[in-house]
Amino acid sequence: MAIPQTNFNPPFNITRASHLVLTAQDLAASRAFYTEVIGLIVSDEDANTLWLRGVEERQHHSLTLKKTASEPACEAIGMHVFDEEDLDKAKSHFDRIGLSSKFIEVPFQNRTLRYSDNMGTVVDLVATMKTQPRSHVAVHTHKGARALRFDHYQVLVPDVIAATKFYCDLGFRISDHLVVEGTDINVGIFLHRKNNPWDIVFLHRAGPQFHHGGYVVESLFDLIRGLDCAGSVGFPECIEHGPGRHGHGHAYYTYLRDPDGHRTELLLNAIQITDRYDEPVACALEANSVGNRWGFPPPKSWFEEATPFAGAKIVAPPMEGDPLTLEKYLSTKSWRRAPTTLRKSA
Ligand SMILES: [Fe+2]
Repeated sequence: MAIPQTNFNPPFNITRASHLVLTAQDLAASRAFYTEVIGLIVSDEDANTLWLRGVEERQHHSLTLKKTASEPACEAIGMHVFDEEDLDKAKSHFDRIGLSSKFIEVPFQNRTLRYSDNMGTVVDLVATMKTQPRSHVAVHTHKGARALRFDHYQVLVPDVIAATKFYCDLGFRISDHLVVEGTDINVGIFLHRKNNPWDIVFLHRAGPQFHHGGYVVESLFDLIRGLDCAGSVGFPECIEHGPGRHGHGHAYYTYLRDPDGHRTELLLNAIQITDRYDEPVACALEANSVGNRWGFPPPKSWFEEATPFAGAKIVAPPMEGDPLTLEKYLSTKSWRRAPTTLRKSA
């Protein structure tokens, strides 16, 4: 199926993916994980909530963790719009297309418009929030992977084309899309508003479910340092997948699971995509491909486990895939390789 086209005159101006709201059963454990391993800074905290930010972020928080006695969930993903007027334009747009939305009160944020998109994903739009000093040059205070800034999130949806169309209508551009080799079936679509390949990634799976949020780190050493710290402060089993390099060549990565199972990706800066003629690239998903430039394929948990959105009904897709998991890969791995399969370096 053809991918949706971008509306270059959107009804309001979303600038980027910017924040997340997750719930957690043990805030002390979450605090240790996000500060000592990921390297986020605590902007504020009380008995029931933690507000965290990356070391270069001026925004008050890019991650809010709320204490819960229930199953951990994602309360919302968040995006910035350019200014306050865009929030009014967004409200008018959603009213016009018959999508429910409402202004809500959120600590440390100014007006916040919450809506559920056409897949049921809960999204908060904000133009401004309280600011904090950047701490990127206060290197003596940095911990763990010294995460710089929030970059993107990945959401599982049962219909990637319908989810993508909703956001292309709002001005999102497609950087890459994963197509099952030999078919026109899209199983993953990467969308962006800022000038790198990702703000939202949609993967074909039961959803909506929150799969992961990504934080950019400065160097490969910082990524490894985060993993070293995980091993040193009591989270040796939090490393789920990686390090590796993404299959379509954009960034080094690793994925970690927090004490509630929420997934965070640490990644290096990706390529720049700005020019209008830099059009979507189709990436063939080969059968039994490890899906990366190098490194092992993701484990079964990466494919099958995700965080539910609070209050959203999870819908299964009409067809499920059969990805190559780490478990399958290792059970069939052979070090013998025919020379004819060597890939030319680009
Ligand atoms: Fe990611």
